[in-house]
Amino acid sequence: MTLTTDRVQDPDLLAQIVEVSGDAIFSEDLAGQITSWNSAAERLYGCSRRDMLGRSAADLLPEQTALQLRSLHERGLAGERVERVDTWHQRPDGRHIAVSVTVSPLRGPDKALVGLATSVQDVTDRVRLTAEVEDAHRTLEKQYAVLGRSNRDLEQFAYVASHDLSEPLRVMTGFVQLLERRYGDVLDERGSRYIFHVVDGAARMRTLIDDLLEYSRFLRSDRTSCRVDTTAVVRRVLAELETAQVEVRDLPAVWSDEASLAAVVQNLISNALKFHRPDAPARVVVSACLEGSRVRLMVDDDGIGIAEEYRERVFGMFSRLHVREAYAGTGIGLAIVQQVAERSDGRAWVESSPLGGSRFCITLPLAPMAAGDAG
Ligand SMILES: Nc1ncnc2c1ncn2[C@@H]1O[C@H](COP(=O)(O)OP(=O)(O)OP(=O)(O)O)[C@@H](O)[C@H]1O
Ligand SMILES: [Mg+2]
Repeated sequence: MTLTTDRVQDPDLLAQIVEVSGDAIFSEDLAGQITSWNSAAERLYGCSRRDMLGRSAADLLPEQTALQLRSLHERGLAGERVERVDTWHQRPDGRHIAVSVTVSPLRGPDKALVGLATSVQDVTDRVRLTAEVEDAHRTLEKQYAVLGRSNRDLEQFAYVASHDLSEPLRVMTGFVQLLERRYGDVLDERGSRYIFHVVDGAARMRTLIDDLLEYSRFLRSDRTSCRVDTTAVVRRVLAELETAQVEVRDLPAVWSDEASLAAVVQNLISNALKFHRPDAPARVVVSACLEGSRVRLMVDDDGIGIAEEYRERVFGMFSRLHVREAYAGTGIGLAIVQQVAERSDGRAWVESSPLGGSRFCITLPLAPMAAGDAG
């Protein structure tokens, strides 16, 4: 059989190309007898050229494979283009392989059909990989849905718990205060001390519940991102904190929402101011740098710092490293910062600051260029 094309005339060269091809390539005549069988076909089906030449696929290949090939060949003989048909073939050793089959008509010098060439590509690895990726994707989606549900349940629980706890606490506090006012003079010193502790404990619980409520409100609210002027937000927070101790460097606009960014900035700056060294007021610097398409916002201080082993823990809810008497607070601030970071697929962390204290960082999406930003 001679293949003729316009450009390649050398049948030896063509035969060599076919022989070294990574795809199994074989041809058969109109009676279905194998006329060529390359090395890749030997490897793919585990059948030698010697065994195959002059035989038909149905003689040596498993029935299912031979039938599949036959139906593709019939389509080819009927003049249909059979290109990259994905299917499964069974090898004589019983193993199944995923293949992509192309069948082309072979024509003699007079253009009459003389047979068919079949090229079979082993795509088992690709199919397996695709299946694995799809599987992983499905598992991830399932886990994501479960996580979303349990998050919503948790948010709902935190909201209901903090909301419903408020009422009995209010009643308790009211009555203890009444007790103190009405019967204060008949109580001895120990009785007054007990009442003081109850009032103090109730006040602390009030703060905890209020913070929890604020946190769960924060989680529940739907926020739409837009371009936010970071510098303006920082300036506003500083005005509210009534402090002039903070140095603010150049800050690019971020893609977020004002409330979230204000909460982040407020919590980080007030922490930096709060956890200063006992002998000196805090020095605080707010700066930013670019990390790809994100902005890394940094708040540096020269305060007491955080030991390496606590740097993850501080972002947990109600997680604090000091007693109330040393530094006031409930431990919700950094949990909110973490929440904002996660919502925008970013990250929040703390490291050592070149100023000597802590450097808190959060990555937020960079706002797309607005008209007038260019230059
Ligand atoms: N800049 C900082 N320097 C040193 N330690 C810090 C700093 N910021 C936070 N921490 C530590 O991390 C803990 C958690 O911080 P977080 O802001 O969540 O809570 P808080 O400030 O104690 O209370 P809240 O923010 O609810 O008023 C703090 O109690 C403190 O121990
Ligand atoms: Mg705080």
